[in-house]
Amino acid sequence: MTARYSRITGTGSYLPPRRVSNDDLVTELAERGVETSDDWIVERTGIRARHFAAPDVPASDLAVPAAQAALAAAGRTPDDIDLIIVATSTPDMVFPSTAAIVQHKLGIAGCPVFDVQAVCSGFVYALTVADAMIARGAASRALVIGAEVFSRILDFSDRTTCVLFGDGAGAVVLEASDTPGILATDLHADGKHVGILCVPGNVSGGQVLGDPLLKMDGQSVFKLAVSVLDKAARAVLTKAGKSEADIDWLIPHQANIRIMQSTARKLHLPLEKVVVTVHDHGNTSAASIPLALDHGVRSGQVKRGQTLLLEGVGGGFTWGAVLLVL
Ligand code: UT7
Repeated sequence: MTARYSRITGTGSYLPPRRVSNDDLVTELAERGVETSDDWIVERTGIRARHFAAPDVPASDLAVPAAQAALAAAGRTPDDIDLIIVATSTPDMVFPSTAAIVQHKLGIAGCPVFDVQAVCSGFVYALTVADAMIARGAASRALVIGAEVFSRILDFSDRTTCVLFGDGAGAVVLEASDTPGILATDLHADGKHVGILCVPGNVSGGQVLGDPLLKMDGQSVFKLAVSVLDKAARAVLTKAGKSEADIDWLIPHQANIRIMQSTARKLHLPLEKVVVTVHDHGNTSAASIPLALDHGVRSGQVKRGQTLLLEGVGGGFTWGAVLLVL
């Protein structure tokens, strides 16, 4: 029996139209008595702007156009899809899954759909699950989507977090293939770090119990991120029998340019080999990797046949990497 692999056949993304520059945000925050500056945000993070969805636009409304763009790029229609996985920490509802809502909005029914909740590592988790299901024969053409409306869970009185995040969605079509495709995956988590990045509230008895807004100990997350991303990168390279020199593009989670620079330095990769979108998107959590991938593909930088290292890290604490040939 020939081995069954999975391969990305199309990418897509969508950003809500409202672009909020650092200066726009500085002005809005000043009206609330919160002091920050374009200089601080750019120097500490590399972020210059982010996009915010309108208050009545849920994650599924960002996911659908991203999915449609990925389908068009793959030359597929929604009817060809037999699995939908949405990575999100800002779902439309407590339940059912955002993936079920996306399925319905795409006008299809019947295939399995579910959400993956691994915060900013969500897309690498979802891609790993889809790859495993395709390799096992449980699916042949999957939509794997990262979609977030983090603006809904930001505390705009907390300058240490509200300047960092944005909204958006990215998607890929992942299809069964005789040739890889996905070369290796590596996922991890350590729940003892739950408290350093979380939205601690929950819904109970018809009320929100606890704080429903994002809390982060930025320095602790930064230190952990830098250390685990290097380990995950080396793990996928080893599993695939590849070396740093085989990487054409590093497409990391877009949280902070300094974390990306550190990861690239440790892998002896020049920054020219890193797809960077954090300056224009901010941190879009599970959407950031597929957004950056689609940006790289559509800008003509990232080409078919090249070897890509995708890496995510975030709340949980979760982290992971996927090495693939596009
Ligand atoms: O997506 C999941 C993964 N998330 C991440 O990877 C985020 C990781 N963490 C980070 O990116 C960085 O830690 C931050 C960007 C969040 C913060 O950068 P930092 O260099 O670690 O700054 P800091 O927390 O050490 O704060 C330095 C100073 C503090 O003032 P003092 O105590 O030195 O007087 C803060 O109060 O900067 C102050 N500060 C700000 N000043 C202006 C914090 N936020 C702001 C702000 N504007 N928005």
